Amino acid sequence: MRKGYFIAAAAAIFFLVFFNQLGCSEEVKSKPITHEEMIALGKYIVHTSGCDDCHTPKIFTENGPVFDTTKRFSGYPADEVLPAIDMNMIGPDKWSATEKHLGAWVGPWGISFASNLTPDNATGLGAVTEEMFIKTLREGKLKGVGRPLLPPMPWHVYGQKTDQDLKAIYAYLQSIKPINNMVPQPVSPDKVGERLVKK
Ligand code: HEC
Repeated sequence: MRKGYFIAAAAAIFFLVFFNQLGCSEEVKSKPITHEEMIALGKYIVHTSGCDDCHTPKIFTENGPVFDTTKRFSGYPADEVLPAIDMNMIGPDKWSATEKHLGAWVGPWGISFASNLTPDNATGLGAVTEEMFIKTLREGKLKGVGRPLLPPMPWHVYGQKTDQDLKAIYAYLQSIKPINNMVPQPVSPDKVGERLVKK
């Protein structure tokens, strides 16, 4: 008799725990994520994915470059003058190079400038929709519909993130302070010499 009670009790506990667990995991899956949680997730992803490295201007210290947090994600500074370089050093089997902000890059593709990712309407991503933003990172096209993105923007890496992660990145970038900074247009390889002549 006692053994029978014991088995029945054990079975009851098992079913209670099992169905409770099932209930919990379903609840977690179906719980919608709030806009604030999306922004927090996006902040975490952006801050831990190296976006600052190219898109935030730098201040040079004794220990090397640090992010200028007053200009965070505003891209290569419009008022900056590009330093001269010996073009004989640049080529597919030679060097690609960057300057102190790690924002302008010269290589066989010409010169590219890290974009303004803040939600400024005129110079940043203010007018870019969530759909355009996801397309930018998935298909490597400017604003999702324009010309192919130039190196070294690692869109083929970030484009592998989930829809939710990309939406979260967008939500966060749209929530930060808009900064008006008109990043220069890229320079084609045949025009690079005019912009970066060795002194
Ligand atoms: C190694 C440098 C580098 C890193 C790291 C980097 N970017 Fe970029 N990014 C660039 C450059 C350079 C461009 C401009 C490319 C061009 O003009 O074709 C760019 C362009 C973009 C664009 C296109 C803007 C537009 O107007 O369509 C978006 C969006 C973008 N980056 C988002 C990000 C995000 C988000 C991260 C981090 C998850 C990131 N980038 C990390 C260099 C970088």
